Amino acid sequence: MVNSPSAADPAAALVRRTIAGVSVAELAQAHGTPLYVYDAATIRRRCRDLARWDTVRFAQKACSNIAVLDLVRREGVLVDAVSAGEIHRALAAGYPAATPRGTADDLPPAHPIVYTADIFDRESLEVVVRHGIHVNCGSSDMLEQLSARMPGAEVTLRVNPGFGHGPSQKTNTGGEGSKHGIWHADVPDALRRAEWSGLAVTGLHMHIGSGTDLAHLAEVAGALERVAEEIGRSLTTISAGGGLPVPYRPGEVHADLGGYFDLWDATRRRLEARFGHRLRLELEPGRYLTAEAGFLVTEIRAVKRQGSRTYLLVDAGFNTLARPVMYGAYHPMSLCPCDPLVAEGPAPRSTEVAVGGPLCESGDIFTQTDGGFVATRPLPEAAVGDLLVIEVAGAYGFVMASNYNSKPLPAEVLVDGGYGRLVRRRQSVGDLVSGETV
Ligand code: LLP
Repeated sequence: MVNSPSAADPAAALVRRTIAGVSVAELAQAHGTPLYVYDAATIRRRCRDLARWDTVRFAQKACSNIAVLDLVRREGVLVDAVSAGEIHRALAAGYPAATPRGTADDLPPAHPIVYTADIFDRESLEVVVRHGIHVNCGSSDMLEQLSARMPGAEVTLRVNPGFGHGPSQKTNTGGEGSKHGIWHADVPDALRRAEWSGLAVTGLHMHIGSGTDLAHLAEVAGALERVAEEIGRSLTTISAGGGLPVPYRPGEVHADLGGYFDLWDATRRRLEARFGHRLRLELEPGRYLTAEAGFLVTEIRAVKRQGSRTYLLVDAGFNTLARPVMYGAYHPMSLCPCDPLVAEGPAPRSTEVAVGGPLCESGDIFTQTDGGFVATRPLPEAAVGDLLVIEVAGAYGFVMASNYNSKPLPAEVLVDGGYGRLVRRRQSVGDLVSGETV
């Protein structure tokens, strides 16, 4: 638990000694640092928040460890895959490839795994065909490539509605500036190509951006309804895509999920009335399910003063968590003092610090704003050996980690029922060169 905020010193709120009831110091001692830790109970809670949707399809790109996939699968969540590798992960986590024939209710059946992309690389096409995976096509070229190998298949069309939103141009996936999806004006052409190829268009999907506010996400419903009418009665499933925001900064709150569902449900019902049959309503969240459940535990290895600034340098860098350097993303941070006297006493007083990593680049800073400017944060006074926990790191954290500077990938631990289980071992330096030859 994070200590309750103190009016006298807000940094008291920034001391964290446990994650989901397990001691941060013990996790670090048992598994080393840097270490990704996920809280299973939070992931379950987030899955259950979305229970009103017919299908919640996890965009596993956010956090694809197979233990996490297995956890969400047990919550009834289905899965999206954007590569042959992600299909392999879904199968390894116990998802079946084949779509069940009927459902207990009168809804059309849901595809356990959907391959969503704008292209088939040759390997993904092979894997899709081998396992009979349902495809969400983001380009018309995919329709012909698929029909040549899976004649008569059902497909989903991912349509770019011509507008998009997102906190960063890099995560905005709609509009002319985005390569994603079939352009809305080209839908009639895509439908003709699907028909000539003998494919049945049964699904329609739109995703305009990640981390967008709900008002913008809601605009998609109207655009989807118009395209659904163009597709017509073959449609059995509509997907609102992902992009549900989570609070990263102090003061940010969760979105109005009930209102968002009601809006999509009304869209679905109007289309059902028009088509005369039921439609399955899907949501495709990534970060919503795992972001808040994830913590990156690092060790402070140097405390430096550069002129008037204090830098805490930790053993994780943008090789471990890339979001701050890529998007100027903000992650909350807290301190776990290693000195047991400090650890058990009142929180140390706070100072303004910048937090950086070990990489040979000035941009290797966790406290930066968009554009790469170094910012500072109030954190409790820290010493070498203390642990710094970077929070809300369970989405696009480990999955975007790299071996830059020949740093091995960190370990991952899943905490469940008061026990932390290693779900991916730390890479070794031997792993780094395996596969290379001189
Ligand atoms: N569906 C599609 C088709 C997507 O492209 C994405 C994310 C999602 C669902 C899930 O979006 P979410 O619910 O997680 O926002 N690396 C960036 C995010 C890139 C998102 C890419 N697509 C970040 O760290 O913020």
